[in-house]
This record gives sequence, C-alpha cells and structure tokens, in this order.
Amino acid sequence: MNAASMTPVNLTITPRDRRFARESKPGRWWHGGDPYATAFYNALSATFPKGEAFFVEAVRNHREGAPAKLAEEIKGFTTQEVIHSREHDAFNKAAIEAGYDLGPLDQKVQFRLDFIRSKPPIASLASTMALEHFTAIFAHELLADPRHLAGAEPEAQALWRWHSVEEIEHKGVAYDTWLHATRHWPRSKRWKVKAKVMLIAARNFTLDRTLGAIELLRQDGITGPRAWFGLLWFMWVRPGMMRKIFSAWAKFFLPGFHPWNDDDRHLIARYEATVAKTAEPGRTVRRARQAA
Ligand SMILES: [Fe+2]
Ligand SMILES: [Fe+2]
Repeated sequence: MNAASMTPVNLTITPRDRRFARESKPGRWWHGGDPYATAFYNALSATFPKGEAFFVEAVRNHREGAPAKLAEEIKGFTTQEVIHSREHDAFNKAAIEAGYDLGPLDQKVQFRLDFIRSKPPIASLASTMALEHFTAIFAHELLADPRHLAGAEPEAQALWRWHSVEEIEHKGVAYDTWLHATRHWPRSKRWKVKAKVMLIAARNFTLDRTLGAIELLRQDGITGPRAWFGLLWFMWVRPGMMRKIFSAWAKFFLPGFHPWNDDDRHLIARYEATVAKTAEPGRTVRRARQAA
C-alpha cells in the first residue's frame, strides 16, 4: 500500500544563501524590454513570498514521525524556501519601485491561501505537493532552454536560475512528506485526492498568473486584445513555457509517478559549474544555517 520514494539516496539539499537585485535593481521592463515577458515573471514572483511560506508551513505540519532522511530534507527545503521568499520580496520591491502596484496580485494569493487553510491540513500539503511539481517542471524547463530568459537583465537571470536550481533539488520533499502523511491511506484514495487537488491547483495557478500579468500590463497601459495576444503568445507559443511543461505536468497522474523519476541533477551540476566560473567576488555560494 505504501508507495516508495524515488528520491536519490545520495541527494543533499544545499541552501545557497545568495542576494540579488540589491545594488543593481531590475528596471521596469527588465525582461529584454518586453512588457509581456516581464509581466509574466513579475506575476509569478509576486506569489512567492506568501506562497512559499505556505509551502513550508504545510510540509512542517506533517513532518512528525518522518524517517531521518526525510526529516533532514525538510530542514534543507525549509531553509531554501525561506531564502527564496526573502529574495523574491526584494525583487518584488524593485518592481514596486519601478512603478507597479502588486497589491491586487497579492490579494488574490491571500484569498487562495485563506481558502485552502480553511480546509483540513492535509489539503494544504496536497496543494503544496501539486504546486511544487509545477515549480519543479517550470524550473527544469527554464534551466534547460536559455530562450526563456534570453535578453533579461543579468541580475534577474541570476535570481531565476538560482531559484530554479533549488526547486529541482528539493522537488521530492513535499511529495515524500505527502507519502509519509498518507501512508495509511488506500492507494485509490491517495490518487483521487492528489489528482483532484492537482487539477484545481493547475487551473487556479494558470488563471491567477495570467490575470495577474494582464493586470500588470494594464498598469503599463497595454489592454484589450493586444495585452491578451502578447501575453498568451509568450506563455504558450514562443518561448512557450506553459506548452513546454505540459507533458511533464501530465505525468503527475500516471501510476508510479514520483518527481525524481526524472533525475535532472545534471542541470544543477551545470549551474554550479557556471557559477563557479563567473561568481563575482563577495558573492559566494555557501551553505546556509539550517532552520530547525
Ligand atoms: Fe522556492
Ligand atoms: Fe519549492
């Protein structure tokens, strides 16, 4: 009855305590001067501080009795997400300084979180697991194909790559915590709940991020069919992030799915090799103190 974790035994989750966008803040259209690309990523970034704090809360609420390896991974995951929230908060402040009002996007995130928190705690873990899958396949695609960030300001590129690497590294944690928390459930119940939650999470994620980006474009003075066409083209056609992650997303519903069925640690290794070559003095990559 108990599904097995596929998380590699030799995986270590290494928080990289880095800071971005402090001295050289991203400009208004930091993504290659393209309002649509900028709106899409800004809409995503706006969700992270609250969203990732929620992920941490959901996972930690179910860690009791976890095997030692998972307990250790939860610590690494927690530290990584806390630092991601901090860095996206700084990135969002730069967007606000550039003239955007992120208030409407923030309110939408709060509305979704209030709703899910009103449900039994396992619902929060299920939605975390679903959204962490989303994040991991997004991160994989972003690192695998340089076209997604082509033309973006270097500091912003560095932030999104760093975040992506750590999302891949901890992609099994929410899933393994879910397997642990539901270990006494029949397999059919586990599948039904995770499939239902994923469908809802995917619909809300896609809808909310799209409408959030449309709102930011409205603040740029871009509205109506022009805004919709430009944004949907960027999201679904070229570079087409949403289209490219679709098949990886659908694998979630297959029997035997586990995030680590796709071992994509070569993307982490490639990143580490690049950073080692290009890191500026003072921008060291070090292991952060683990959150208890
Ligand atoms: Fe994160
Ligand atoms: Fe994450």
